[in-house]
This record gives sequence, structure tokens and C-alpha cells, in this order.
Amino acid sequence: MSELGLHDELAAIVGDLRTWIAVQQGDCARVPRGPAPELRSDPAGTEGGAEHTPPVESSSLVSAEVRPEVPEAVEAKPAAPTPEPEEFPPVPETRTPSAAPASSSPADRLLAVLDDIGDCTRCKLHEQRTHVVFGSGSPEADIVFVGEGPGYNEDQQGEPFVGKAGELLTAIIENVIRLSRSEVYICNVVKCRPPNNRDPEPDEVATCSPFLWEQLGALQPKVVVGLGRFAVQTLLETDSSIGRLRGRVHPFRGIAFVPTYHPAYLLRNPSDKRKVLEDMKLVRMEYERATGRALPEPLTRKEASSR
Ligand code: URA
Repeated sequence: MSELGLHDELAAIVGDLRTWIAVQQGDCARVPRGPAPELRSDPAGTEGGAEHTPPVESSSLVSAEVRPEVPEAVEAKPAAPTPEPEEFPPVPETRTPSAAPASSSPADRLLAVLDDIGDCTRCKLHEQRTHVVFGSGSPEADIVFVGEGPGYNEDQQGEPFVGKAGELLTAIIENVIRLSRSEVYICNVVKCRPPNNRDPEPDEVATCSPFLWEQLGALQPKVVVGLGRFAVQTLLETDSSIGRLRGRVHPFRGIAFVPTYHPAYLLRNPSDKRKVLEDMKLVRMEYERATGRALPEPLTRKEASSR
């Protein structure tokens, strides 16, 4: 997609979200303060049809303006108490635990994980990688985005989500969620690029994912956003499709987990942008509820395109 095309697409995305939020909330209370969305008790989101949220048919801005129905996927449900966050899964005993104790600051704990990874040769992905792509963002982040693994640009630069998909992710974070990229944290399930961007293999995930658990344990985020099928299935430990899993909040170690499409998929399938906007609304709601901080309105299409 050209620079201009991407820009227009992003402007359309944020314009859609803002319109949609305004339609649903009658422009009065921007953020629902009452009942929180129900956190379902089935973290695997397994095959039960009743759990499946039907896809929203229309993705056009026009129909969002004239059709005020609330998509079932994001309708606030009666409140269910959010369990207190707990520590993330214990690191398997086969690994040397990172040095920083749980009482250290998130920054120190992250540094210890980085140090622990070092110039990693634990799995075959190290053979063709240029850089270990650890993660980037704020150690104090309340929202963590988790992708699958570095691509070519990320491998070259040593930073996650810096290619075209990364530009789209950054625009969604800044224009829709309305945080800066440096205020959230972004990382991947595996830290080294799988050759030819293939899916990481089970042994690679088994070797590398403990570092992700350690990162999440250090960060203790309020919301985790799974980007794409691979990351979502890995984190939720399910084979269910992303289409079945997205559109709702999943409990994940006492923390809200929001699955959504990968930005690279969205670039190829812009007609699914509306579904990502629904998911980002869930992210905003969970963030605001958990932190008590109100986010600014998503940018309008015009505002986004003039940036
Ligand atoms: N895709 C991912 O899943 N992660 C990245 O860092 C870049 C592209």
C-alpha cells in the first residue's frame, strides 16, 4: 500500500470509530462508566457456538452513521467483577529465571529478562536472525500489544512493528486509542524472525514464550491485545479461529485480553477494519475502567489525515 493509501486508510479507520462511538452513546457519555463488559469464564473461547459473536456485516462509515444498532460484540454486559491481577505463569523450571526479584521495578525486571535472553542461541531461529527483537515501549505501560514474531524490518532494526504493519499499528494506537506508542508496550511471542515469515514452530514457541511470560510479569499490564491468529491462539492456548475469538474480552490471568486481527491482515483486508475498531473500543473501555483515566476522543477522519 502506498504512503498516501495507508494514510487515507488510517484516516478512514479513526473516522469510523469516532462516528460509531458517537452514534452508540448519543454523544453524551463518551465512555460507558457503568457496567463493565462481561468477562466470559471460558478463556479458551472454545468451539461452543453460543460463545461466538456474529460478525458485524457493514463496515462503511455511511452505514455506521445511519444505522445506530449496537453490534452485539461490544454491547456492555452486566458487570462481572474483574479478578485481581495475579502474577503471570511461572517460568518453566528448565529455564534459568531472570535475576530481578518480583519486588524490583518493572524497568529493572524487564532489563533482567533482556539480560537473560542475551545473544540467544536457544532455538534454531537464531541462525538467520540479525537482531533479537525484545520489545519496545514503556515499562509502566498499562496496555501491551503482542504480535507473532519479527518480520524483515523488525529483524533489521531490532524493534517490533516498524514496517508497514507497524505503521498501521502505531496509527491505531495514537489515533484511535489515543496513547502514544511510547506509552504502551509492544512485543512478540518469539523474539527472532522466523525465516520467510513462516509461523514460529512449536519448539521455538516453547523455548521463547517463557520470556514473554516474564515480560508480562514485569509489566503487569491492565490490558493485553493479541495481534493476529498466531499470537492469540498461543496466548489463549486454543485452536479457535481469530474470527471466533475476537469481538470480546477474554479473562487472561485476571487481566483483560482483547484479541484482534493482525495489522498486516488489516492492510490486506481493509473491509475488516470495522471489526478492529470494535476491538479497540474494548481496549479503550478496559483501559479506562482499570486505570480510572479517561482517554481523549478518537481522532476524526479529518483530524487523522491532517496529522
Ligand atoms: N508482525 C509481527 O507479528 N510482529 C512484528 O514485530 C512485526 C510484524
